Amino acid sequence: METGRFVDLICQKRDGQELKREEIRSMIQNYVSGQIPDYQMSAMLMAIYFRGMSDREITEMTIAMRDSGDIVDLSQVSGIKVDKHSTGGVGDKTTLIIGPIVAACGIPVAKMSGRGLGFTGGTLDKLESIPGFRVELSEEEFFSSVKSIGISLIGQTGNLAPADKMLYALRDVTGTVPSIPLIASSIMSKKLAAGSDKILLDVTTGSGAFIKELEESRELARRMVAIGRGAGKETVAMITNMDEPLGYAIGNNLEVKEVIETLKGNGPEDLKEVCFALAGMMLSLGSEDESGKKTLSYEEGKKRAEEVLENGAAFAKFKELVQNQGGDITYIESPEKFPMAACCEEIRSDRDGYVNWMDTEGIGVAAGLLGAGREKKDSKIDYSAGIMMRQKIGNAVKKGDVIAVLYSEDKEKLKKASAYICDCFLVSDRLGKSMKMGVDILR
Ligand code: URA
Repeated sequence: METGRFVDLICQKRDGQELKREEIRSMIQNYVSGQIPDYQMSAMLMAIYFRGMSDREITEMTIAMRDSGDIVDLSQVSGIKVDKHSTGGVGDKTTLIIGPIVAACGIPVAKMSGRGLGFTGGTLDKLESIPGFRVELSEEEFFSSVKSIGISLIGQTGNLAPADKMLYALRDVTGTVPSIPLIASSIMSKKLAAGSDKILLDVTTGSGAFIKELEESRELARRMVAIGRGAGKETVAMITNMDEPLGYAIGNNLEVKEVIETLKGNGPEDLKEVCFALAGMMLSLGSEDESGKKTLSYEEGKKRAEEVLENGAAFAKFKELVQNQGGDITYIESPEKFPMAACCEEIRSDRDGYVNWMDTEGIGVAAGLLGAGREKKDSKIDYSAGIMMRQKIGNAVKKGDVIAVLYSEDKEKLKKASAYICDCFLVSDRLGKSMKMGVDILR
């Protein structure tokens, strides 16, 4: 397609018309090759943000983005490979718990994870807070790890969905991240390129998710399940609560310590509930006989997940994973070895009442201000920085009770974050709505 005519396509979308398959494919190809400039693509993204896309358009955009780079071939790993992806959250450390649980049950985990995005943390940064842990393995090392110990967690290798990388960076600076068609195509293009047989989507909803309303999160889940199915892969979405941080820890080594506690059976209830649900579904998806019949139901999968947590097999698998990828296992055995941040500050309630509401995105932003995330792409992370929550929504508190403790290496950062986070909690006379929403499944 001539780049000169791309303006016509922008106008079509601006006016609410559907784009054709060939138009979408050439848009993605020409953007990746540099023929469409960022200013025109920005206008297109904004038009999509306001006008939306049909299921057909989203599927075609996803496939075009998938095809913009390499597609991983996992065929040398035997068994059914199930990938899991979260749409993002605050304190979301589920991959570090679910991966070892699923691998301990004999289902291979060959997973490529991401770094922090916006106010959300990233699995790779958490893993790298374990001294020595290598997330960049060669292809050979990756496959031999999965074959020998059943699990490997690494960063994206090769050139996976480069169109998404470029579009995401543009969305980040043009106010077009929270768009259902754009989130759905972004996530699913990477999932389809990552080569698994089945896909489990953890669609977070609430004040700490990209999509904050439950109905819209259901819509996002429905769209992504449709894309996965359309591409021939069994895809299931589970909608999980992100109206407050998951567990209590936010920030890299603080979260790893909470992971260790959880794998030892002492984790927070909300975190365990989500992990058992997701792991149970992964185990069910990964258990098929030759005729394609499931040999494990979701409920049975959940039970298996609980068993391997309780009998220590999942924790043993986590230690194997850390050791296998060069991490210093003594930190896992003695988590008090992780360095504590030099400065800390307690945030206290200024009245009696109930914790009624949290701005979870704001709490994630505050963790970033403390140094737990990156300001710029190449910023260095402070692995000890972050927040330990002391309260959950619905808790009764007295004036002066601690709601959260902030940690940072840098006094100035601590000052900024503590000024920012004060408005992120509401303590009132009312209990607020119950956050015990459980897990909603979409197939
Ligand atoms: N995660 C992604 O990978 N893409 C989005 O657009 C949002 C969350």
